[in-house]
Amino acid sequence: MTELGSVAWPPAPIKTERLVLREPEARDRAAAIELMASPEVGTYLGGPQPRDELERAMPGAPSRRPGRFIVDLDGAMIGQITLYRETGHLRQAAGRAELGYLFLPEAWGCGYAAEACGAALDWFADAFPSEQVVLATQTANVRSMRLAAKLGFTEVERYEAYGAEQWFGMWSPATPSD
Ligand SMILES: CC(C)(COP(=O)(O)OP(=O)(O)OC[C@H]1O[C@@H](n2cnc3c(N)ncnc32)[C@H](O)[C@@H]1OP(=O)(O)O)[C@@H](O)C(=O)NCCC(=O)NCCS
Repeated sequence: MTELGSVAWPPAPIKTERLVLREPEARDRAAAIELMASPEVGTYLGGPQPRDELERAMPGAPSRRPGRFIVDLDGAMIGQITLYRETGHLRQAAGRAELGYLFLPEAWGCGYAAEACGAALDWFADAFPSEQVVLATQTANVRSMRLAAKLGFTEVERYEAYGAEQWFGMWSPATPSD
C-alpha cells in the first residue's frame, strides 16, 4: 500500500451524529492492541495477532498515516477506518483507494461502522472528487458484506484467495444528477 496522495493530512476531526473520526493518540493504544488481538475481529482476516508482539511493536500511540482514521465514541476508540492506496494485490485495484474497517466486537450491531464509513467516504469524495473506492472482503464475512452493500459498494467480481471466496466491490461518489 502507498500513501493516500496529495491531500492535507490530518483533516479536521470529522463529527457524525454519534462519533468522531480523528488521528490516533496515545490514549488509543490499549484499544488498538485489543482490535488486532481480538479473535472475533480476526476471524476473516487471517486470525488474531499475538498480543505480546503487538505490545512490543506499539510502544506509544498507534501510528499516524494519511488515510487512517480512529473512530471515537464518547472519547474512547471503538474502531478504525483506513483509506489506503492499493499497490496491486487486488485485481483492478492498483492505485485506487481501498476502504478497510475494523471495530471492537462490543461496538458491533449499533450502526457505528456504517455511520463512520459513510462519513469517511464523504470526506474522500470531497478530497478526491469523482474517484472510486474499492473494497475486498470474504463472502463468509456476513457483517462486512452487509456493510459494503449498505455503503453503496457494488460487486465487480468474486475470486478465491487465502483459501476462501473473496468479494471485490467498488464505490463511486454520487454525482449531482444522482
Ligand atoms: C464488519 C464490521 C465493521 C461490521 O460491523 P456492524 O456493527 O455489523 O456494522 P454496522 O455499523 O453496519 O451495524 C449494523 C447493525 O447495527 C444495527 N443498528 C443498531 N442501531 C443502529 C443505528 N442507529 N443505525 C444503524 N444500524 C443500527 C443494525 O440493525 C445492524 O444490526 P444486525 O447486524 O444485528 O443486523 C464488524 O463486524 C467488524 O469490525 N468486523 C471485524 C473486522 C472485519 O472483518 N472487517 C472487514 C475487513 S474487509
